[in-house]
Amino acid sequence: MRNTPSTPPPLPKVSVVGTGYLGATHAICMAIMGFDVLGADVDQAKIESLRAGRIPFFEPGLPEQLDEALASGRLHFTTDFDEVAQFGDVHFVCVGTPQAAGSAAADLRYVEAAFTALATRITRKALLVGKSTVPIGTAARLTKMVQEISPIGAELELAWNPEFLREGFAVKDTLHPDRLVFGVQSDWAEAQLRAAFAPILAADTPLIVADLPTAELVKVAANSFLATKISFINAMAEVCEATGADVSLLAQALSLDDRIGRRFLKPGLGFGGGCLPKDIRAFRHRAEELGVGQAVSFLGEVDSINNRRRIRTVDLIRELAGGDLSGVRVAALGAAFKPNSDDVRDAPALDVARLLYLEGALVTVYDPEANANAHRLYPDLNYVGSLEEAVANADVVALLTEWEEFRRADPDYLASLVSQRLVVDGRHALDASDYTAKGWEYRALGRPYQPRTVQLLEDARDGANGLPL
Ligand code: UDX
Repeated sequence: MRNTPSTPPPLPKVSVVGTGYLGATHAICMAIMGFDVLGADVDQAKIESLRAGRIPFFEPGLPEQLDEALASGRLHFTTDFDEVAQFGDVHFVCVGTPQAAGSAAADLRYVEAAFTALATRITRKALLVGKSTVPIGTAARLTKMVQEISPIGAELELAWNPEFLREGFAVKDTLHPDRLVFGVQSDWAEAQLRAAFAPILAADTPLIVADLPTAELVKVAANSFLATKISFINAMAEVCEATGADVSLLAQALSLDDRIGRRFLKPGLGFGGGCLPKDIRAFRHRAEELGVGQAVSFLGEVDSINNRRRIRTVDLIRELAGGDLSGVRVAALGAAFKPNSDDVRDAPALDVARLLYLEGALVTVYDPEANANAHRLYPDLNYVGSLEEAVANADVVALLTEWEEFRRADPDYLASLVSQRLVVDGRHALDASDYTAKGWEYRALGRPYQPRTVQLLEDARDGANGLPL
């Protein structure tokens, strides 16, 4: 770890190519930190929206930062790549690397297009910096490619700077990251990056300066670790189900060991989103190509455990509904892959809603922010605009994304709206004892339960003979 600056060059002008989740946040935050920034995209609608001060997705705190950055006069947007090439000293590439169609590999076409667009146009010494998550070896390959097609050859340098921001915390994670990683090939590139992150380094943020493959690997290794931790506790939930043990208590007990920690040890419906699932698949695919597939073959198991959570949640809802979902009214609370996000990419919640629908359940979905995106993906589900509408006359309530609004909901109030007090807590987010005390049959994966009918009988018997349960 090195944190001693050599003489930093003057404040570089920054371009950001790709104004999706990562790029828009990065461009806005760089302008907030005092840099002159030009954000670029091939999507005219996105650029117009950002110019007009509108963020095209939901991210708490980001609209306010966009207003401030635009008002500062330091942030501009364009679709003209000639302008970008002339403007920037440091060009960040923040385009998506989705899962390729029909393969586990990452689709690198947007990354390649962005580097090509810049390399063919830049005519003075500059640094291209990849931030997208890519297979190991991509940065070295791109270096060769850009220097071949660039009019200035090796004067155009390339570095990799992986991004660790979480949706829902994007502003905080960008302005105050827990670490910076620079994958560089020269002292000049390192100095450029130090200058581009000077305000963050001044706050004593740890910095790892590395070679290109290590920088690429840090990102996929971090996401693989997080995914493995979640699937580990969900695998334990499966064992709990077979033994009558309680995975919530287990997670609590494990987390008190500092070495294990409590974060990413929350059992439930598992992980989704635009990063974790596709990153572990692409990593496995790349490791196979590199001849080290065996080293990360466990990620296949991590993926399978995670996918089983969705099926098991449907099983639990079916069981609770009496064994057949046909005609059963289910309130699906949540569609986004996690709270404080409108992202429905690989969202466990939406998969569960869809599977229920395919079994004939009458599913009503409500998500505080993701209804519109969910509707675009699965227009045949029924979406409503409030919690009350979702649970009205429901036979089963299924909590699928742990929004605060759902956690806070009063079980007595919900009971007055539903037709049956049956709840499946897909995220271990509700107060089980409160729900049970208020007459609900509460079920969650990996937690033992006492069917309400048995409990009612036991209560009656207990009342009759006066013995404690
Ligand atoms: C992730 C990484 O955290 C981030 O560093 C990287 O840059 C991008 O990928 P994100 O996709 O925003 O970020 O989501 P994250 O907060 O990591 O959650 C991923 C999924 O795991 C969610 O579906 C969440 O519900 C689930 N999860 C998380 C659990 O099921 N249990 C947990 O204990 C934690």
